[in-house]
Amino acid sequence: MKSSPDRVHPLWDEFCQDLEPVSGSDELSDLQDKYLSRKRGLISLELRKLGALTPQERSEAGQQLNELKAQVQAALSERQAKFKEEERRLQLATERIDVTLPGYEGARGGIHPLRRVWRQMEEISVRMGFTVVSGPEVESDYYNFEALNIPKGHPARDDQDTLYLSDTLLLRTHTSPVQIRTMEKQDPPLKIVVPGRVYRRDATDATHSPMFHQMEGLVVDEGITLADLKGTLEVFLKELFSADTQVRFRPSYFPFVEPGAEVDISCIFCSGKGCRVCKSSGWIEIMGAGMVHSRVFEMVGYDCEKYTGFAWGMGIDRIAQLKYQVDDARLFFENDIRFLRQF
Ligand code: PHE
Repeated sequence: MKSSPDRVHPLWDEFCQDLEPVSGSDELSDLQDKYLSRKRGLISLELRKLGALTPQERSEAGQQLNELKAQVQAALSERQAKFKEEERRLQLATERIDVTLPGYEGARGGIHPLRRVWRQMEEISVRMGFTVVSGPEVESDYYNFEALNIPKGHPARDDQDTLYLSDTLLLRTHTSPVQIRTMEKQDPPLKIVVPGRVYRRDATDATHSPMFHQMEGLVVDEGITLADLKGTLEVFLKELFSADTQVRFRPSYFPFVEPGAEVDISCIFCSGKGCRVCKSSGWIEIMGAGMVHSRVFEMVGYDCEKYTGFAWGMGIDRIAQLKYQVDDARLFFENDIRFLRQF
């Protein structure tokens, strides 16, 4: 039979006094050291003294000490559990998350409005069987003018319009030189579009910029007529704007086509009734076009008895301005994020 000690060890009271004010885990572990550390712990020291006692005394004192040790350990873990519980409650309160709040949307880039229109025009052309090609922006006098039947002294070569890099090199003023470059390399039949940057010595205003974009088109084959030109552009423009867009041709002059025309569409803002954008005419000029001049075919060595063709050139910036109702073309190049975000 185990006899239980008749009195509590005096260290228990001391421990209880020490435990009372403890307010955190660190203090608690100091307290644990003070009583239980193997070398310096007060209880450990007491246990070590047992060896000096008689067996009878040792048994009683040992039992008393072991009980004290167990009590102390229990009290320490109870307090430890309490601190843990408090810590957790505090953490839950401060790190509380409202899972019903909407998340943050990451910032996303977008496609520039000009590039959007550029791509759309390319897509329509490709669906219509055209191949997309490109050419250099730094061009020679020959390709930009001479081969396109723009002889020296023609107003289109005037210093006012062209940015020259040297006597013979310039920044292309239109995408038409790529007509010549392509025909020099390839025999008919030919069906290409050429989107790209072009440059002119213009002062910047709401409708002019020294750099803008064009998309050229060229079709060459046997038996191509003006009716093909009209039909092709009508299909293209109805796709680009809307199915009810009307197209009209006015005679005009470009040295590299004959006959030449300026192409208008019915005003997309007032459907032809007349408004500020179309200056009450109901029509908006959209591009230059015509049947390829026989002089041009001669320059590239095409047999103009056998082949005919048509070409056109339209301004991408102008079309973007119309499609997105942007009344100042400068906005396309200022890269104001507030403007660009709208597309
Ligand atoms: N290159 C002409 C321009 O820039 C447009 C055009 C292209 C006209 C093809 C007729 C045929 O104004």
